[in-house]
Amino acid sequence: MNERAAPLVELRDVHKSYVSGARPLHVLKGINLAVERGEILSIVGPSGAGKSTLLHVMGALDRPDAGSVRLEGEDLFALGENARARIRNRSIGFVFQFYHLLPEFTALENVLMPAMVYGAGPFRDRGEAAARAAELLSMVGIEGRMAHKPSELSGGEQQRVAVARALVNGPRLVLADEPSGNLDTGASAELLALILDLNARSGQTFVIVTHEEEIARRAHRRVRIRDGALE
Ligand SMILES: Nc1ncnc2c1ncn2[C@@H]1O[C@H](COP(=O)(O)OP(=O)(O)O)[C@@H](O)[C@H]1O
Ligand SMILES: [Mg+2]
Repeated sequence: MNERAAPLVELRDVHKSYVSGARPLHVLKGINLAVERGEILSIVGPSGAGKSTLLHVMGALDRPDAGSVRLEGEDLFALGENARARIRNRSIGFVFQFYHLLPEFTALENVLMPAMVYGAGPFRDRGEAAARAAELLSMVGIEGRMAHKPSELSGGEQQRVAVARALVNGPRLVLADEPSGNLDTGASAELLALILDLNARSGQTFVIVTHEEEIARRAHRRVRIRDGALE
């Protein structure tokens, strides 16, 4: 396959069920989706439609029951767990709906974490990684609160720390699950501006699950999921 011509991410006939209770719940029912390099794609759809599940499978956090997920032509679930984890850490950034910051660490340490998982990540050493983490925290407007723990930050501030953490390794793909779900209008507009700016400046690709019309409208493309299938 010509990798340069391949989409950044490509899902082919992806199925995923959860088994909890008497019968399995078929959540993703044959998803086909390609995301191009430099694209901002929004995913919209009702609660329970499978948006979070789709994002987790796309980011190789959850294995599909059938179908394939390719990143730059590489079939992620054909790789061993270590190789997959490495790609996830270096090439994919996640912004989770409820932040998932580590409570016992400061904002700066939380942002630094993905860089330190494998040595110093893409950086020469911890100092260089810490400098980048601090730069990202300034960019998201947290420069005065880098030494604060999550419990000492507002919801909007925690979300911005989570965004900085997702970006620290310079991932080609950023996946965000309702990133403005817990933000007020002002913080939500700032987050959108940051995403648009990063995309324009560094060509990072974003896939954003959102209920916000403004975010969906400013994305390059919008897909709708209903009952586990794209419309
Ligand atoms: N870990 C899980 N175990 C069992 N059921 C789950 C799990 N995660 C999600 N589900 C169910 O799968 C369906 C889709 O969930 P989800 O992908 O979170 O939807 P959305 O993000 O669109 O609201 C829902 O019915 C949800 O209850
Ligand atoms: Mg969800």
